[in-house]
Amino acid sequence: MYPGSFDPITCGHIDIINRASKFCNKLIVAVLVNKEKKPFFSFEERIELIKETTKDLDNIEVITFDGLLVNLFKTYDIDFIIKGLRAVSDFEYEFQMAQINKALEQRAETLFMMTSPRYSYLSSSVVKEIFLFGGEINNFVPPIVRKAMNKKKEMK
Ligand code: PNS
Repeated sequence: MYPGSFDPITCGHIDIINRASKFCNKLIVAVLVNKEKKPFFSFEERIELIKETTKDLDNIEVITFDGLLVNLFKTYDIDFIIKGLRAVSDFEYEFQMAQINKALEQRAETLFMMTSPRYSYLSSSVVKEIFLFGGEINNFVPPIVRKAMNKKKEMK
């Protein structure tokens, strides 16, 4: 399972999904709530964008859940959690999450993948900030995500 808030999915997430899907029979992309972040897209919108941007891969399932990540172990036959690490700065938070999840659910092993260097500076938060200040996000998200962001901005 590859969990995240995916608000929105970026080229960095897609890179991890592409690479992880090669060593998983099935990769569940789980859209979860990050209590630290105020959402831009709804769950439904995020799911739709993930499905669209990963439609060339045939072993991806996209789900959403508004509770604890470890509770998904009861519903799905999950072997491990995959997380992307961009830099040392991600490590402290992700290390804590991995430990907490393991303390809550013995089966919850976390495997870390290094983000490809070309996406090491990328995050959904940075994409939203650049976008909301009128900057160019073409290199950071697929065109369909940029279009959805434009539409959302018009509606707000
Ligand atoms: O993409 P993000 O925002 O870094 O993803 C963080 C996320 C959503 C994976 C994390 O906040 C999470 O697991 N949320 C679900 C609630 C939970 O289980 N929290 C961990 C125990 S405090």
